[in-house]
Amino acid sequence: MPTIAGPSFSSHEHIAAARSENTVEVNTPRKRKLRSDSAAEVSTPMKLKSPRRCAVSIPRTPMAEVKEESNGKPETQFDCLDVKSKWNPRDEDQMKAVKEALHVSTAPSTVVCREDEQGRVLEFVKGCMEQKKAGSLYICGCPGTGKSLSMEKVRQQAQDWAKQEGLPCLETVSVNCTSLTKTTDIFSKILGENKTGKKAIGSSSPLEQLQIMFSQKRESPSSKMMLIIADEMDYLITRDRGVLHELFMLTTLPFSRCILIGVANAIDLADRFLPKLKSLNCKPLVVTFPAYSMQQILRILQERLVELPYVAFQPKALELCARKVSAASGDMRKALSVCRSALEILETEVKGSIDHEPQTPVTEDQVVKMDHMLAALAKTFKSPVVDTIQSLPQHQQIIVCSAAKAFRGSKKDRTIAELNKLYLEICKSSMITPAGITEFTNMCTVLNDQGIVKLSQARNDKLKRVSLRVDEADITFALKEIRFFRNCLL
Ligand SMILES: Nc1ncnc2c1ncn2[C@@H]1O[C@H](COP(=O)(O)OP(=O)(O)OP(=O)(O)O)[C@@H](O)[C@H]1O
Ligand SMILES: [Mg+2]
Repeated sequence: MPTIAGPSFSSHEHIAAARSENTVEVNTPRKRKLRSDSAAEVSTPMKLKSPRRCAVSIPRTPMAEVKEESNGKPETQFDCLDVKSKWNPRDEDQMKAVKEALHVSTAPSTVVCREDEQGRVLEFVKGCMEQKKAGSLYICGCPGTGKSLSMEKVRQQAQDWAKQEGLPCLETVSVNCTSLTKTTDIFSKILGENKTGKKAIGSSSPLEQLQIMFSQKRESPSSKMMLIIADEMDYLITRDRGVLHELFMLTTLPFSRCILIGVANAIDLADRFLPKLKSLNCKPLVVTFPAYSMQQILRILQERLVELPYVAFQPKALELCARKVSAASGDMRKALSVCRSALEILETEVKGSIDHEPQTPVTEDQVVKMDHMLAALAKTFKSPVVDTIQSLPQHQQIIVCSAAKAFRGSKKDRTIAELNKLYLEICKSSMITPAGITEFTNMCTVLNDQGIVKLSQARNDKLKRVSLRVDEADITFALKEIRFFRNCLL
């Protein structure tokens, strides 16, 4: 991976000073539909994190975290456990600190696993600045792949680089397009109308003023370049595509000094909505942010947690989260949300145990473990099958429960008569009046129609064979949440 040229940004003052005199920033009061996590809907500005590092710095390679030692124990960063202070899940401050470290709005001090993408964007911006040439770039990628986070870093890096190189300072305008009342407001933001509080002169619109500005020769050779980051740019798509088109066209005007970076999810947005730019040979460059891999998610989680002076997660649990999230979407927001949810499950468990036995001492293993993570994952990735099972009438649920028990021993199918026997046992042990065999068969037919079981054809109803069409784990998960079935599934 190429390293990013220019200074690194471990210092947070840069972020804190994001609203510098050369910077217009628009916050995000509304979020788009595609957002992957409700937690992200809180429109808090990025919080800053102090670089509290583990007392021992751990040299890491990408795979170091998941490497198995000869004794089968994973060798991880958490091997520094003994030098970290004791984790106590009952300590509210500790809990709060871990939750904060995992919160989407907490800007990490380092953005790992996006060095390549950031480097490419920064090189593009540097190139435009060096040549005093306008240009446009389009960044796409699925939700939660670090696009907005990376653009914030690139913006700071570009400003610092310009300063370092003695170039005229870079004016930056960062707009989250979802925050605009109307799409054309993007032009007034660029014009800096809001910043100065001045209204547009004469009757010309902000767009027209920009067009005039970029069509005339610059008065001074030291004119500043302007970096415009239009995040969630798909919000600018209007029926006639006018706004989006005019925005990109600003970079093609003879004396333009705009470096435009558009950010959105769709891969083909530029092709679909900006065909004219293509014919003018001004098609924006495209940088794609791929979904995070398992290793990347794990590394990012570890990077965020290693700043804490204690260890709250079992390494295997983090690994499980990373594996599941990468397989599902590669969305970092999801991974963070699952980890927070697992932590909350542990918190509830610990609180419950204190209520029962207030004197119980804190034990070494009261960290987020596999079962907490599994429960959190199940909550997050709840399947429609789970919903269907949970909304079935009770007797049908008992049949589904019988089927889950019947097929546990890897048997693929059973006759209706065999399944009925298990059903009768459950009813008896729960003191529920069972349905007769005809009604039982009818219920199996309903479950067949719902796609939960498969019923084979046979002349004699009792000899029809039943097999499962859904994952046994989904049944267990769905029924475990219903008090009645908790014991049945043991
Ligand atoms: N490389 C990373 N290191 C640390 N945290 C990350 C990283 N990538 C993403 N995150 C976390 O995930 C959150 C979501 O990332 P970000 O907002 O950049 O996604 P996005 O690609 O812009 O998604 P969307 O398309 O939904 O806008 C960030 O706020 C951050 O907390
Ligand atoms: Mg974003």
